[in-house]
This record gives sequence, structure tokens and C-alpha cells, in this order.
Amino acid sequence: MKKPLVFVTRKCPEEKLKALKEVAEVEMWKKEDVSCPRKLLLEKAKEADALLTMLSDQVDEELLDIGENLRVIANLAVGFDNINVEYATRKNVIITNTPDVLTDTTADLTFSLILSAARRVIEAADYVKEGKWTSWSPLLLAGADVHHKKIGIVGMGKIGQAVAKRAKGFDMNILYHNRSRDTDAENQLQATYTSFDELLKESDFVVCMTPLTNETKNMFHAESFNKMKPSAIFINTSRGGTVVEEDLVKALKEGVIAGAGLDVFEKEPIDSKHPLLMLPNAVALPHIGSATLETRHAMIDCCVQNLISVLSGKPPITPLNKITAS
Ligand code: DGY
Repeated sequence: MKKPLVFVTRKCPEEKLKALKEVAEVEMWKKEDVSCPRKLLLEKAKEADALLTMLSDQVDEELLDIGENLRVIANLAVGFDNINVEYATRKNVIITNTPDVLTDTTADLTFSLILSAARRVIEAADYVKEGKWTSWSPLLLAGADVHHKKIGIVGMGKIGQAVAKRAKGFDMNILYHNRSRDTDAENQLQATYTSFDELLKESDFVVCMTPLTNETKNMFHAESFNKMKPSAIFINTSRGGTVVEEDLVKALKEGVIAGAGLDVFEKEPIDSKHPLLMLPNAVALPHIGSATLETRHAMIDCCVQNLISVLSGKPPITPLNKITAS
């Protein structure tokens, strides 16, 4: 019997796909530095039974209409704002993501952005490399303390909680805002629930951990930055679409807030001439929240296990939608 066809939209290590190859014909876009062109993705979606997609692939109505044979799409990310899950459900296509395996890794990166932005780590390392370090002086590259400060976490999901756990180790006072209160998290982490406005007003570090949805799109804008302390540092490791970047640039330039640590942007990859990259008080990273070898391998494994399961007639392991057999 002919094996089902799986198209993988980005180069993954061959050995990680070995098990998948036992149940499916696997084709993969193999160029290291370029994403699979949309035209090719649509062509492959037309033939394939399953896709292993990246957060940079748009799984929209056009793709789902073309993909008449598609049974499952495994997205290599926990976030799924690149996928029209509702339409996929209507089309009977199972969508899966990669929860849990990246929680701690993403929280580590979030915390490293907090530390880097507050202690001016990147700026200081550049200072040494550029030969500017000629003497020690009392206020040279002096930043802000992180320990014993107030952190405000917007989005207290699993990653938000993992960030709070780290903050606790730094003796931070933890505020959070979420769609709904999580009393378990409050008890375990000694976190205090506040309104969004209160969190903006009170926090030394405002950390955006919320998924990108219609409700959270552009939730950080000029007015939000105006409500923050002038010494506040804004951190974003969720999705760039939660922020009006133009307003953030203005806030950073005009001293409305003190700094930012960003792993995600409205448009990725960010243009190297983008005004955010010209600011000394903004640390920018190329969306590497979950980028450790261990975690990226675990994420690929999670996608592969989901694909194998569905293609073998079993239920998906980490589904985002529920398909009822017709
Ligand atoms: C995710 O999984 O959504 C991250 O942004 C990618 O690491």
C-alpha cells in the first residue's frame, strides 16, 4: 500500500525523522537559510496527507482549501497564531502544537532578556569588543537591579508561571494579569493578580507572555507605555503582534520607559535598519525563545509522534482541535 506523504517545511535533522519515514514518504525543504517559498508550500499541500510546519508558515484558508488530502498538520511551536485552527476544524484537518517541552527553555530565555536589558549585558560586551574599555569608573555601564524588584507577568500560562518561578528565586515581588485568575499559581508562586492597568503602573519589569489572539493584538501601545514607570523595562518573548512597535520605539527614545528586551517582532525577520535596532536601550534577539538543541529536538519529536499517531489511525497526542469522524 502507498505510504502517506508528509511535507516538512524546514530542514530538520534526518535522524529525527527516521520513525516517521517508517510510516510515511517524507519530503523536506532542505535549504538552511531560506524558508520554503509559499508557492512550493501550496504545491506540496495539494499532494500531501500531512505537513510539519513552522510558525513562519501561514496555514490559512487558501492552503487548507488546496490541501484536499490533508489529515494532520503538526506545527513546530507552542504558539499557533499562524494557523486558522477554526477553518482547519471545518476542513477536518487535525492541528497539533508542541506544548510543555519548551516551557522551561523559553522561561530561561525570558529571564536572560530581563537580566540582559537591566544589566546592559549586550551593550557592555560590545563596549569591551569595540575597545572602548579604558578604565574602571563608578557608574560605567551601571544598570538596574533585578532582585527584589516587581515583575508584572501578562499571561500566566505555563511559560508565564515558569518565569514567575525564576523570579521567585530572585526575591522578586510577582504581579500577574491573565484572562482568568489562577489561584493555584497564586498560592504556589505567591503571585498577586492585578488589573492590566495596575500591573503596568506598578511593575519594574513588564513581561508579555500572552499568546497572540484578536484580543491581545496591539495590547501594548502608547497609552500602555505611558502608564509604566519611567524606569520600567518591557520584555516580550510571546509574539510581536501584541505590541505597536512604533509606539514602543517612541517610548524608548523619549525615556517614557527605560528599556526593552525583545525576542519577537511584528514582522520577522526584523529589518536590520528597523529603528528598534538603533536604540542602545533595546536588546533584540531573533526569536530564539525555545532554541536549545535539547528543546528543539524535543519539539521535532513531539511533531513526529503526532504525525505518526494520526497517520496510523490513532488520536493525536497534543491536538489543538477536535475532529469528529464523519
Ligand atoms: C513557540 O513555540 O511558539 C515559540 O515562539 C517558538 O519557540
